[in-house]
Amino acid sequence: MNLHENSPIRVHDLVKVYRGKSRNPVKALDGLNMEVARGEIFGLLGRNGAGKTTLLRVLSTLIEPTSGTAEVCGRNVVKEPYRVRQSICAVLQENAVEVFLSVLDNLSTYGRFHSIPRRQIRERAESVMAQFGLEEYRHQKVIDLSGGLKRRVQVAKVFMVDKPVVFLDEATTGMDPVNKRATLDAIREHARQGRTILLTTHILQEAEELCDRIAIVDQGRCLVTGDLAMIKSMATRAYDINVTFERMRPEILETASRYPLLKLRSTSTTLEMSVRGSEVSTFALLDALSHVEPIVHFEVTSASLEDVFLELLGTSGKEGRAGEKS
Ligand SMILES: Nc1ncnc2c1ncn2[C@@H]1O[C@H](COP(=O)(O)OP(=O)(O)OP(=O)(O)O)[C@@H](O)[C@H]1O
Ligand SMILES: [Mg+2]
Repeated sequence: MNLHENSPIRVHDLVKVYRGKSRNPVKALDGLNMEVARGEIFGLLGRNGAGKTTLLRVLSTLIEPTSGTAEVCGRNVVKEPYRVRQSICAVLQENAVEVFLSVLDNLSTYGRFHSIPRRQIRERAESVMAQFGLEEYRHQKVIDLSGGLKRRVQVAKVFMVDKPVVFLDEATTGMDPVNKRATLDAIREHARQGRTILLTTHILQEAEELCDRIAIVDQGRCLVTGDLAMIKSMATRAYDINVTFERMRPEILETASRYPLLKLRSTSTTLEMSVRGSEVSTFALLDALSHVEPIVHFEVTSASLEDVFLELLGTSGKEGRAGEKS
């Protein structure tokens, strides 16, 4: 089997420098390396200006990299842009829809543009509208739809065509939670069918829910890449454990303080603790406490992706490069 059949997206030492006449060059990608496996939903996270959109634009052949290589389905984005375009579809940040056409006409036009046989277009459009919850708006002009729904039409459109690789740049921006649910479900379904999806989002909870693997990008490089469990395990705080008793007794605090806790606080009935999973077994701790006093209620929450994101990027003191766009 060829390498690209396992990893349809392969990026090696990718550099992109934007050069304008009236301004200093901006290094948007600075030696980025990455591979995305077939059928994977891969999330690019990072601050404004980290280089996420630039990477998607290089992979979509909209701009050429300064150096390094990028391949999509085994085709080099610089040497064979036409072949790359045949295997991708993309929702980019600035994606357009034909606002004076109805939802159905937008989908059909896109299908025709991508040479889907005429008789399949209607069928395909119906299935996409059902997946993305757009059926009731089929005859409405896009200009009359709300911002979130407009975005949903933009996203739905690219699923009219059967391409093995899909790029989604902040696809769910502006969608309410219900709208978003339908969109995320549809994206997941397309990945299940074997499509490879590379997306960016600023909604970390969405990335947690949707992505098989994640890369945190900063200043044009991947800071960390891995599955959710691996990335979460990088957090200093691994678990918060809150245990409620009928009443707090000094023996409870004494027992808890025998463990290496990152945090220990008590109220009149509740003990709040943070532990690193590698250092303390949550079960052993709960067991020991329950022998001192019956536990009425307990809650264990693991570190979120946001914890790791903020630890890695939040306190580094480097400003994002937002606002530098020309
Ligand atoms: N056309 C351009 N000309 C010059 N500089 C650009 C251009 N497009 C992007 N940049 C710069 O390249 C850097 C990376 O921008 P990019 O849009 O890739 O970031 P991003 O990670 O997508 O950010 P965001 O989360 O805000 O969408 C930024 O410093 C940006 O100002
Ligand atoms: Mg962007």
